[in-house]
Amino acid sequence: MKQLGTAVIGTGFWGRNHARIFKELEETELMAVCDVDAERAKAAAKQFSAKPYTNAGKMLKRKDIEAVSICTWSANLAKEALKALKAGKHVLVEKPMATNVKQAEKLLETAEKEGLHLTVGFLMRFIPGVRHIKKAIENKIIGELVCATAKRVSQWPERIGDVGVVKDLAIHDIDLMRYLFGEDPVAVYAKIGSMKHRKFEDYAQIMLTFEGGRSGFIESNWLTPYKTRMLVVTGSEAIMKLDYITQELTIEDAKETVQPRYPWQEPLKLELRHFANCVLKREKPLITGMDGLKALQIAEAALKSSAKGRVIKLR
Ligand SMILES: NC(=O)c1ccc[n+]([C@@H]2O[C@H](COP(=O)([O-])OP(=O)(O)OC[C@H]3O[C@@H](n4cnc5c(N)ncnc54)[C@H](O)[C@@H]3O)[C@@H](O)[C@H]2O)c1
Repeated sequence: MKQLGTAVIGTGFWGRNHARIFKELEETELMAVCDVDAERAKAAAKQFSAKPYTNAGKMLKRKDIEAVSICTWSANLAKEALKALKAGKHVLVEKPMATNVKQAEKLLETAEKEGLHLTVGFLMRFIPGVRHIKKAIENKIIGELVCATAKRVSQWPERIGDVGVVKDLAIHDIDLMRYLFGEDPVAVYAKIGSMKHRKFEDYAQIMLTFEGGRSGFIESNWLTPYKTRMLVVTGSEAIMKLDYITQELTIEDAKETVQPRYPWQEPLKLELRHFANCVLKREKPLITGMDGLKALQIAEAALKSSAKGRVIKLR
């Protein structure tokens, strides 16, 4: 089987996971890693038997690198993704893809012009329980979809200082709401602010409304002393609850509570294998650059809604 030559730009906490998985997957071969911090680049290269770089431009000249994961600080994602696309590489850019919609549009344009695959690291879609929920919605196992509630709260993450909680955390759930409802929201209303952290918002309550009076509620913050990652989907006949951390799924209706069992799977491994297969076998991508752009548009509309104190129509 042909292996996809890969590289990772940004070898901090998350980039090292990308590098490890590119090393582990049989579909991929890790050729190189790059970090502006030379020590980090060297350490990751040593750990995963790849070549270290501190200059992405130089690394991207290599012909044996066909696809690249971009895992830098959020504020640098778009810049590095653009470089990789311009160098003719297929790109998986971590969320939030860019710090603003304009940068994301440029990435889409470039990928399309160069005929390259562009995807965004919306990891939640690869959690097996989410796939189960998506199927249950489509097959109306829970009746008609009424609403979905997502809670993603924890302490202030020391590492993240370049975007607020909306583009760092809530963006996962914004994408997931679009995925579960199978359409774009018609409007957004949000209350967003900063209680402990000056530079960016540290809490957000976002309500998305969809056709037919259905809603998605998103609660995100960096104010809670413990980490919670939950999704509750309410249907007319049953409720589904997913704990993203344990991957435990519960389905409750008037008669019974069921906990389907399936083996725990590493979502990032599923995501990167899918990325490789999209390039190698032209599989239909689960997440496109357009999904990234739309999630950012909604995130920015939520920030605007809170600043203006009113509902923002999205279409
Ligand atoms: N999808 C997910 O579930 C998920 C989970 C964690 C992190 N992330 C995303 O991954 C990205 C990285 O997060 P992290 O926690 O690993 O951060 P981190 O601070 O641990 O690592 C970032 C690394 O990027 C390097 N870097 C910064 N700018 C660079 C550039 N221009 N070129 C090369 N290297 C550069 C830094 O030196 C650092 O080593 C963030 O955008 C974050 O949102 C996504």
